Amino acid sequence: MCGIVGYVGPGSSLDVLIGGLRRQEYRGYDSAGVAILDESGELGMRKRAGKLKTLTDDLDTTPLPDGRTGIGHTRWATHGGPTDVNAHPHLADGGRLALIHNGIIENFAELKAELLEAGETFLSETDTEVAALLVAREYREVRDLTEALRRVVDRLEGAFTLLAVHADQPGVVVGARRNSPLVIGLGEGENFLGSDVAAFVEHTRHAMEIGQDQIVTIRPDSVVVTDFEGAPVETREFEIAWDASAAEKGGWPSFMKKEISEEPEAIANTLRGRLVDGRTVIPELEPLEPVFADIDRVVVLACGTAYYAGMLGKYAIEAWARIPVDVELSHEFRYREPVLSERTLVVSVSQSGETMDTLMAVKYASAAGARTLSICNVQGATIPRESDAILYTHAGPEVAVASTKAFVAQATALYLLALKLGESRGLLTPESAEPLIDELTSLPEKLQSVIADSSERIAELAKWSADTQSVLFLGRNVGYPIALEGALKLKELAYIHAEGFAAGELKHGPIALIEPGQLVFVVVPSPRHTGSLHPKVVSNIQEIRARGARVIAIAELGDAAVVSSADEVIRIPLAGPMFEPLLAVAPLHVFGMELAAAKGLDVDQPRNLAKSVTVE
Ligand code: F6R
Repeated sequence: MCGIVGYVGPGSSLDVLIGGLRRQEYRGYDSAGVAILDESGELGMRKRAGKLKTLTDDLDTTPLPDGRTGIGHTRWATHGGPTDVNAHPHLADGGRLALIHNGIIENFAELKAELLEAGETFLSETDTEVAALLVAREYREVRDLTEALRRVVDRLEGAFTLLAVHADQPGVVVGARRNSPLVIGLGEGENFLGSDVAAFVEHTRHAMEIGQDQIVTIRPDSVVVTDFEGAPVETREFEIAWDASAAEKGGWPSFMKKEISEEPEAIANTLRGRLVDGRTVIPELEPLEPVFADIDRVVVLACGTAYYAGMLGKYAIEAWARIPVDVELSHEFRYREPVLSERTLVVSVSQSGETMDTLMAVKYASAAGARTLSICNVQGATIPRESDAILYTHAGPEVAVASTKAFVAQATALYLLALKLGESRGLLTPESAEPLIDELTSLPEKLQSVIADSSERIAELAKWSADTQSVLFLGRNVGYPIALEGALKLKELAYIHAEGFAAGELKHGPIALIEPGQLVFVVVPSPRHTGSLHPKVVSNIQEIRARGARVIAIAELGDAAVVSSADEVIRIPLAGPMFEPLLAVAPLHVFGMELAAAKGLDVDQPRNLAKSVTVE
């Protein structure tokens, strides 16, 4: 939510800022703006409502003087609509100070009243302008931007990342963070700040984390990080594991299409090196290994698509490690009185590692004494820093707002964790784990074939369905989270009403929704497995078809029973029961994307959404 970039160095600030904003536009795309200190010491600023292109077109028509110090912002509106005036940066101190912000300043109304009382005037409806005016007032006293920001941050409640520049201080960008993302890029004679590493990866792959409640001052040749009191802090540097080309469209019509095609690779990369001789080898889990044998409960915390991956994790952990698992929506979790102890393992699942709801839930769990593990896709993100251990998914940068390859990578990581827990508790030996490991390692190839074989047909079905008002998705057991995921994708991408149900629940109410022509996707379990729910799901299909539903089944190759029941069958290769969902999900990702494309919608940047939800 909101993308931030800051630059000091010999290069063109405008190029660095616009490049950084382009790579972070998935974080927010209501409006965009830049502020640059030019060679004559003047602070120039330009901001426009709309996508980044509106700003760059404007800059092409009326150029802004370039310089070597600057900040840029893409916005996801919170306080005040997406207008030119509400866009960031916000100016203060007679136009000599510019400030950008990600997050929400919760006590802004009270601070605004105080500033109005003191004679200040406001141009925008944003909470950010409050911070800009406060910093400017302090700056006039101390004449040092870092010190001015330091004096202000403790007065702000809520979550924020702030970046500021001042015309009196060329070659300096100051940033502060509390519960909002910020990471430092370290270059040769130039330094960068960004909401995530995508902001500067095309210039440097060398990065530094900045912790909560810390302030950073970057100059071309130095980076100084302190806490809010001004005391030096320990910092950690890291190399970014991917290069800029990984976050390019590379000839694909959309990032989403590219990222669906990368689902097999995301699974393979998440498994790579972590399964050796029938055992899991995951050094990152070492901090928690001593407690694995002792934990009596697992709680998975996540939102949206990550939550559905968490549901798959529950099936695997309960089956292979025999530990009870609760999967909780992070935003609901800490607003009741959850029972936690040091024998509870709390596993957060977050692609971005920044989702505020999940971050707060993890902090709550940690404070209550639980052990915390973060499953995350982004290096340098906040949630891993707040956790006892990190299990990275290696899906590579996910740019499309709707999560696809990260979902399969998250499920893979949870399956790895389930194997590890099973081993730690003596329930899985190399021999008994072998078939599971074989299944896991064969997934990428099978998924590749699903995508290759089904995408064209799914695209046709999506075109025919472009006028559909509502789509239902049914699944059972591990197919249930897939039904939920299929429905979520359709809602967020194609703006079509969609619901996912556990097929067994149908008769308890939802079947009343079925009327002639209702489109229903059904994830059908394999009939080959002992105790399979296949006959029950086939009966469900018959029940809804008898009431006029049009059924598209996703079923394994060779399942003949489904042919006579469904209108259309999308085939997936044979797999073990726990692994079928990771094959069945890709056609649903493709369906959501193609239906949105058929309606002429932007599949990478759906309306009202942003990739990284850093406000509660
Ligand atoms: C849906 C989607 C969202 C995210 C959710 C959590 O396609 O992308 O539902 O899954 O906002 O995000 P992370 O995983 O970054 O915590």
